[in-house]
Amino acid sequence: MNDKEYFNKNDWSQAEIETLLNANGASMQELFRLGAAARDHFSGPKVYLRGLIEYSNQCGKDCFYCGIRKSNRRVQRYQLSEDEVLTAARYALEENYASLVIQSGELESPAFTARITRLLKAIRAMSGGKLGVTLSVGEQTREVYEEWFEAGAHRYLLRIESTNPELFRRIHPDNELHRFERRIAALHDLKAVGYQTGTGVMIGLPGQTMSDLARDILFFKEFDVDMLGMGPYLEHPETPLFAERLQLLPLTDRFELALKMIAVCRLVLKDINIASATALQAIVPDGRERGIAVGANVIMPNLTPQRVRSDYFLYENKPLFEEGVASHLAELSRNLAKTGNAIGFGEWGDSRHFSKRHSTK
Ligand code: 5AD
Repeated sequence: MNDKEYFNKNDWSQAEIETLLNANGASMQELFRLGAAARDHFSGPKVYLRGLIEYSNQCGKDCFYCGIRKSNRRVQRYQLSEDEVLTAARYALEENYASLVIQSGELESPAFTARITRLLKAIRAMSGGKLGVTLSVGEQTREVYEEWFEAGAHRYLLRIESTNPELFRRIHPDNELHRFERRIAALHDLKAVGYQTGTGVMIGLPGQTMSDLARDILFFKEFDVDMLGMGPYLEHPETPLFAERLQLLPLTDRFELALKMIAVCRLVLKDINIASATALQAIVPDGRERGIAVGANVIMPNLTPQRVRSDYFLYENKPLFEEGVASHLAELSRNLAKTGNAIGFGEWGDSRHFSKRHSTK
């Protein structure tokens, strides 16, 4: 198949996707080239920035893979003040990032809901509506999603983590707070409320197969996602899943597999936004640029204040160095220029897929 035939292909089977995910050597390099070409063709070559604010590591959930899970007593818990969030938001605005992601441990309480609503309104007032805001604060009721949408959030990321219900069960506690069906229902709510809706999975989980990953991609297509954020699974010593580390793929293989997932998702899902995850950078210093080079188009530089940055420690080797400073941005710009990608400063860079989904309604 030539590039054009790949771009026009819509009838992807699970077997075809698996074949691509198994590519190695020259055929893997060809897949990477195709991923970048498809990104340029469907979304354009620009890379959009989302300033990431890790609002709080207080969490009501107990996911077996995550370093800030509720049962991890060694975590120093924090919550940013409204001032700290607004300072980071102002910085993003001044540096022309155009968009923010507010991410947090998951709490479901009226007080938490109200705090997020207040933050959203304060950011909207401060920026005169110029800063786009993506939320990534977990499963909530439809009413809460509606309240936040009204208050100014317009995109939402909620990873499904794995679309294999059995694998999902193996990496989460068996209780009402951690049900696969509830996660799926929340994704449907987000879409119905009107958010640009994003999901994603961890790549290289213990026990995860290529067929699982291929089915994840078919799920993304069927659900008709607007955005994806996926990254390699990285073990954390203070989590239950650490015990299964001996069955993991070597780190370099997990990294490659994550890049292949990005490229294949770009080919299958075409005009969506795909984030190059921070977890890629935890394995290779220029991991996020490598994600862009194979088809991603969003980078989320960390703007969380240094004072708490080491407390939002989801997995081993999470980069903690000073990002969001001008010199770092200049370096990112230079690196991206090498692959012909410019940063879309001052642009929201909404998912083209979302705009189409809405204009054809
Ligand atoms: N390795 C990789 N990603 C992780 N996340 C949480 N823990 C880990 C880990 N150990 C990801 C999950 C979650 C997002 C906020 O961080 O996919 O949705």
